[in-house]
Amino acid sequence: MKSASPIREVLQSKYSGKTVTVRGWVYRKRSMKSKVFLVLRDSTDIIQAVVADNSRAWQAANDITIESSCYISGKLKKDPRAPTGYELEVSSVEIVGLAEIFPISRDISTEFLMDVRHLSLRSRRMTAILRVRSTMLLAYHEYLHSIDYTEAEAPTFNAATSEGGSSTFAVDYFGQKAFLSQSWQFYAENMIHVFEKVYAMAPSFRAEKSSTNRHVTEYWHLEVESAWAGMPDILKVAEGCIIYAIKKILKDNKRELEILGVDIDKLKKVKSPFPQITYDAAIKKLHKKGFKIRYGQDLGAKEERELAKPYGVPIAVTNYPLQILKFYHGEDPKKLGTGLNFNILAPGLGEIVDGSQREPDLKKIVERLKKAKINLGSSDWYLDSRRYGSVPHAGFGLGTERVLQWILGLEHIRDTLPFPRFINRIKP
Ligand code: 4AD
Ligand code: MG
Repeated sequence: MKSASPIREVLQSKYSGKTVTVRGWVYRKRSMKSKVFLVLRDSTDIIQAVVADNSRAWQAANDITIESSCYISGKLKKDPRAPTGYELEVSSVEIVGLAEIFPISRDISTEFLMDVRHLSLRSRRMTAILRVRSTMLLAYHEYLHSIDYTEAEAPTFNAATSEGGSSTFAVDYFGQKAFLSQSWQFYAENMIHVFEKVYAMAPSFRAEKSSTNRHVTEYWHLEVESAWAGMPDILKVAEGCIIYAIKKILKDNKRELEILGVDIDKLKKVKSPFPQITYDAAIKKLHKKGFKIRYGQDLGAKEERELAKPYGVPIAVTNYPLQILKFYHGEDPKKLGTGLNFNILAPGLGEIVDGSQREPDLKKIVERLKKAKINLGSSDWYLDSRRYGSVPHAGFGLGTERVLQWILGLEHIRDTLPFPRFINRIKP
């Protein structure tokens, strides 16, 4: 393959006056009488290239269309008027793949952009977001490995649901009804007897019937479970994941953050421990703000957003009433009737992490299941975690898209994934 330099590498004063070759796709084109301005895009950045009518490249520059792939060679020149501060005086344009008329131009509706997502991903904005996403996902692996967690996956096809019936996708599994995984937790609570500290990053599926700006039907779920850990221990790990990810993004994605206009000061303010309040205190705060929520009701998106807002950073709300928690959440012996659980809420967005110390006692779990009229059915093997050497343990699930949405200040979750899935979208 003919070689070329990444555009970002070329955008440096040390190459000024030198001839360089870059390759990529034509992002913009403006034709004048004696000049053609091209803006070339690769995965790293963009650069303006100017072709004069006396250049060998004149014909190719006129023929080339938006999103055609090509090699461009030319002399690099500093030019503060160019979009990235440099311009190429072009000596050659070699077209690799001439593009048909590209269907995306300015002022196109979000719906259409989603219809051609495989093409609209080529925008600088989407490129920048998804590069930050990639850094974030790597950060979780790095951080968890650095504190001795082992990665271990569970299947996507499950014989029963884990988080509840209404939001599951049922599929036909050779004539048997199966469900797409909503959470890896049941497997994790058994794997802690093997690995002690275990995590996975995998898709979770939620048949969310409503469309909101923070729900997708398929999301990448970072789930962490630890033996010999209590609620405060696991909350610290969740905070650690978020802080490590933010630090890595601030270090590795400076240019992307600049392109996206991200509020960096907001990110620098995030420190462990996160501000922490109980559910009880949260309800009192909400009442003061005029919310009508009753003690015992779950917090909705509006309430969650409002609670975190004054802090400007994610906060942890703990000790939700047991009646709105799952059967596996442990009860707080110091505050009976409430759980040893937490939700991390991000300002302007709401829940990004859900975690708890689990109930380790088989008898208590069985009672809780009975009370909630839950039949574990084909998931009854889950209880073996309490039958054979039960240990105190805790874990959490972190919505990677939601964390990214908050970090980047995105108004909608759709752009945190290359090909998001919603109730009304399963294509492309
Ligand atoms: O709160 P959830 O449902 O908790 C669980 O699944 C636990 N079993 C996790 C565990 O303890 N291992 O989901 C966890 C997180 C939420 O806090 C949220 O950030 C994200 O997953 N999430 C979604 N993200 C995008 N779209 C959706 N439809 C989501 N549903 C949950
Ligand atoms: Mg939750």
